[in-house]
Amino acid sequence: MKTLLIVWHSMTGGTRQMAEAAAEGARSEVGASVRLLAAPQADAGGVLAADGYLFATPENLASMAGLMKDFFDRCYYPALGRIEGRPYAAMVCAGSDGSGAARPRSSASAPAGG
Ligand SMILES: Cc1cc2nc3c(=O)[nH]c(=O)nc-3n(C[C@H](O)[C@H](O)[C@H](O)COP(=O)(O)O)c2cc1C
Repeated sequence: MKTLLIVWHSMTGGTRQMAEAAAEGARSEVGASVRLLAAPQADAGGVLAADGYLFATPENLASMAGLMKDFFDRCYYPALGRIEGRPYAAMVCAGSDGSGAARPRSSASAPAGG
């Protein structure tokens, strides 16, 4: 059975509702096992054990929430080179359009001279 790991953070409940709705939808799929974890409870072991991922975050100060960043930071080295090719998606709960949190970061998009 394939396992979907959903990692979320929410301060006022919006992202949590989105993550729970996604989990309910995924669980209705035959053959899908779903782990729904708040970001502080998620770790690299859970990441390595899953077959696919859904990351759910509020947009805070034009970026992902700090606890989601902490999750990615903690898992970076243990997961590096071990999960390439696995499917993932992200959900953003925002006061405006969420584009700040969804925007990919790369040196190509960094401001010149920064
Ligand atoms: C500290 C803080 C910073 C925020 N910054 C943004 C922002 O940059 N852009 C935006 O669209 N919404 C921003 N918001 C609004 C939240 O993204 C919005 O209320 C969202 O629904 C919160 O999700 P939650 O209920 O899961 O915590 C901010 C909220 C907080 C508390």
